[in-house]
Amino acid sequence: MTSAVTDVLVIGCGDIGERVARRERSEGRSVAGVVRSEQSVRRLRAAGLRPIVADLDDPSSLKQISVKDSLVYYFAPPPANGVTDPRMEAFVTTMTAPNLPRRVVLISTTGVYGDCRGEWVTEDRPANPQVDRARRRLAAETALRRWSKASGVPIVILRVPGIYGPGYLPEERLRSGEPVLREEESPYSNRIHAADLAHVCFIAGHHDTPGALYNVSDGHPTTMTDFFHRVADLLGIPRPPAVTLEEARKRLGEGMLSYLAESRRIDNRRMREELGVELMYPDLASGLPSCFKRCG
Ligand SMILES: NC(=O)c1ccc[n+]([C@@H]2O[C@H](COP(=O)([O-])OP(=O)(O)OC[C@H]3O[C@@H](n4cnc5c(N)ncnc54)[C@H](OP(=O)(O)O)[C@@H]3O)[C@@H](O)[C@H]2O)c1
Repeated sequence: MTSAVTDVLVIGCGDIGERVARRERSEGRSVAGVVRSEQSVRRLRAAGLRPIVADLDDPSSLKQISVKDSLVYYFAPPPANGVTDPRMEAFVTTMTAPNLPRRVVLISTTGVYGDCRGEWVTEDRPANPQVDRARRRLAAETALRRWSKASGVPIVILRVPGIYGPGYLPEERLRSGEPVLREEESPYSNRIHAADLAHVCFIAGHHDTPGALYNVSDGHPTTMTDFFHRVADLLGIPRPPAVTLEEARKRLGEGMLSYLAESRRIDNRRMREELGVELMYPDLASGLPSCFKRCG
């Protein structure tokens, strides 16, 4: 692990960002988090973290950000529409010599692989995004890669599936009685606990010789229906009604249907073997109970 970094900047310092920022601070580094809302400013201050207010949608507000010799974690999502990521495009244009960081760690998504018909998916599989949400993430990866090639600054891209943890559970959805797809028709889905994801981000930030791309997942995919069932059981509420795909097309929203149209099993071997990551929560059985204890 490298110890040379003293300054850390988290662009998009939300839940995962705050977890990483706290860890960095506990190791004695100076940390700032970029957010845009007053609420997030208050949240960061309450956590003893230094907020920088900037809006990636307003490039002029980015001029105040110095990344020189810093470790940069970029966790801000792309905008809600379109097939590109103008936020990332704007941000990389601010990182020109002598304002160059030491390394950039990006959270992307496993959605960039598209539908893989339930196959195991390594980082060698070509990206094949099938929805705009995933196209925007791939565009962010591409913009950052292009910048890295031109600037010579190393980057680590983390492709992340569904995050779960305290505050991420679909409690409202379950209480509303919205149906799930019956187990036999439900595609594979993949998850990572928020605490494990923050740990992997930290390792990617400090490993001496990281690779440029990692899948980050608990390695134990199950169906989305299984996930909803387990959460309902732990909440002590009835499991949601299960419907056929035909029925689901009439009753579920476009967003959920787009998730149900893709099936893949994410292979996390490179993350474990190259980065030496040991997960706290390698499956839902170990991770979900922690979400109800206000810890992890
Ligand atoms: N949830 C999942 O299952 C999942 C799966 C894969 C990847 N991801 C991605 O993983 C990343 C980290 O997740 P998270 O849960 O930590 O997200 P989060 O809590 O929503 O945090 C995102 C942060 O980005 C900031 N941000 C958003 N737009 C911005 C803008 N235009 N300018 C400046 N800051 C902006 C937000 O600031 P404000 O609070 O001030 O708006 C917020 O602090 C996100 O990119 C997320 O989309 C999530």
